Amino acid sequence: MSQSATTQDELKTLVAQAALKYVIPGEYLGVGTGSTVNKFIDALAVSGIAIKGAVSSSLGSTGRMKSLGIPVVDLSLVERLSVYIDGADEIDPRGCMIKGGGAALTREKIVAAQADRFVCIADASKRVEVLGAFALPVEVIPMAAPEIVRRFKAMGADASLRSVNGQTLLTDNGQYLLDVKGLQIKDALRFENTVSQWPGVVTVGVFAHQRAHVCLLGTPQGVQTIVYEATAMP
Ligand code: 5RP
Repeated sequence: MSQSATTQDELKTLVAQAALKYVIPGEYLGVGTGSTVNKFIDALAVSGIAIKGAVSSSLGSTGRMKSLGIPVVDLSLVERLSVYIDGADEIDPRGCMIKGGGAALTREKIVAAQADRFVCIADASKRVEVLGAFALPVEVIPMAAPEIVRRFKAMGADASLRSVNGQTLLTDNGQYLLDVKGLQIKDALRFENTVSQWPGVVTVGVFAHQRAHVCLLGTPQGVQTIVYEATAMP
């Protein structure tokens, strides 16, 4: 690795390229969303690796892949995926993640759940001891948003509706997104189970059930491969 490859953008490029070795030629591939994944899509497009098709987690990734000649198929056509490649906003020592910074958490979780292996590609800034410094995205049904805000407030956290250019953001699924600040998520599995059951929550951006099996972490010293398979969840 070059000495100068230390900016966040360069680290994202490195891990995106490193992820190519997890792509299985002739198979379907699950593809996530975000700036790191965009770099992976670009690398895949010029790699010469012929996949059967990609299952996309967002309209954004679908558009990018199609524009680069990567065939995109609907998830309903695929029973299982061997590999799902996606970024993260935070990843803890067990491979549990916060995701949804790009508002694609629901489709990301759906596609990840149908994959045997989640390969997370992230720069070193995403590695944390405890999840929660990054505001947690939660996709919600609009009419339930005020009550869900109150529930987070009762937990000591502060949830606010995400907006873009002064307009409330609508996800690819036509729902609202809350960003929740002030959390410290020490038991990710329990937190995900609890919040997922609140009426009106579509998806909570904690990925504990769909945690990463492998993380390719871009560091100034190079790409570190962290394997979580042997780490038992409580
Ligand atoms: C999108 C996501 C992304 O994986 C996450 O936000 C990381 O994005 P980036 O690679 O741009 O840092 O969960 O919903």
